[in-house]
Amino acid sequence: MRKVVLLGATGSIGRQTIDIIEQYPDRFKLVAVTANKSIDVMKDIVKRHACLYVAMDNQYRDAFETAQFFDLKALKEFIQAVPEDVVVVNALVGSVGLVPTIAAIERGFDVLLANKETLVVGGEIIKPLLNTSVSTLIPIDSEHSALAQCLKGSNIDDVEKLVITASGGSFRHLKKDELNHVTVQDALNHPNWAMGKKITIDSATMMNKVFEIIEAHYLFDLPYDSIEAVLHPESLVHGMVHYKDGNILMHVGPADMHIPILTALQGEERLPYRSIFDITKIKSLHFEAIDPIRYSLFDLGIAVARKKGLHTVTLNAANEEAVELFLNGTIDFITIETIIADCLYYFDNGYDVTLEAILDLDQKVRNYIKTKYVDGE
Ligand SMILES: NC(=O)c1ccc[n+]([C@@H]2O[C@H](COP(=O)([O-])OP(=O)(O)OC[C@H]3O[C@@H](n4cnc5c(N)ncnc54)[C@H](OP(=O)(O)O)[C@@H]3O)[C@@H](O)[C@H]2O)c1
Repeated sequence: MRKVVLLGATGSIGRQTIDIIEQYPDRFKLVAVTANKSIDVMKDIVKRHACLYVAMDNQYRDAFETAQFFDLKALKEFIQAVPEDVVVVNALVGSVGLVPTIAAIERGFDVLLANKETLVVGGEIIKPLLNTSVSTLIPIDSEHSALAQCLKGSNIDDVEKLVITASGGSFRHLKKDELNHVTVQDALNHPNWAMGKKITIDSATMMNKVFEIIEAHYLFDLPYDSIEAVLHPESLVHGMVHYKDGNILMHVGPADMHIPILTALQGEERLPYRSIFDITKIKSLHFEAIDPIRYSLFDLGIAVARKKGLHTVTLNAANEEAVELFLNGTIDFITIETIIADCLYYFDNGYDVTLEAILDLDQKVRNYIKTKYVDGE
């Protein structure tokens, strides 16, 4: 029986993780959960699974009688309090996932990672931590789950390059100058995947692929020159590994996140999951290069990633804030890019990458955006 700590239990990945846990009650047991403010969903989860540990916004401190409660600001203490023999599924959205991931690695827990922002802001400090811990990072992101399976049993030195696929997002049919008038509702209407709001917008700007390339760089220990992304509108091929001997392994499957979640949770087993996939219905698969003019944030983001240091913290915080401002109607879609470029120009890169420096810069970038774009000072 694997005991599961689920960070972000009420979100898209969180709920699908619970689906899998409920499908296999003899294999997995949910023991601890976190959310932000989705109190009704959370109460239901805690009751159904008799969870003993809960973390949420502090206003809900008295809402759970049978579980030990932690304020969201105390996710480190929450991880320190859970029992010894657990795995942690990190399905949080945003850089808030970093601190509990570090706490989990420090306790030697395996971390099943959906929260890519953790590696975007903290890859440089997480890698050395993993070297001194028994814990492993196991990807949930579909592309990385695909790559990990194509890499299984192989030597990373034999790999020529990794390729991850991008759907192109909700506005893939539009030209750059047609993005001026798109709405939030249009943006949230992803053609292939049903996901949380933030990642759906990141898909439309192609920032999601920047983050996934950074994630792949840290997960698989390959240089940026050896990791590519290509447009693939069908979202059926999730990843490809080109080996130096000319072999190319591709992972194909339906756009259903239950599959990579189960893959991460099941470990070495292959537990049954009913997925409808009929290859005869697939008439064609398309692949093309990402147009750097149409998706200008893609090249900018990769250039930032290559420089290392703290600039990815600025990139991520600016993106999180700008996406939130777009979602709440404060800015239009194309201003997301303007805000990110502004922050990268305003904040110098720094090379002393510590947790304190990351958290400090993350807050400074958010304050800068609030002052300039919300308060209008
Ligand atoms: N969704 C997908 O299909 C998918 C696929 C691949 C990778 N991912 C990655 O998985 C992660 C989660 O994505 P998602 O789509 O599941 O997100 P989501 O639906 O927005 O869910 C986010 C979860 O985090 C909680 N949360 C939000 N803000 C928080 C905060 N400030 N502090 C603590 N908890 C907070 C939410 O709680 P409330 O409900 O209370 O707000 C919710 O439980 C992201 O990093 C995403 O890039 C997602």
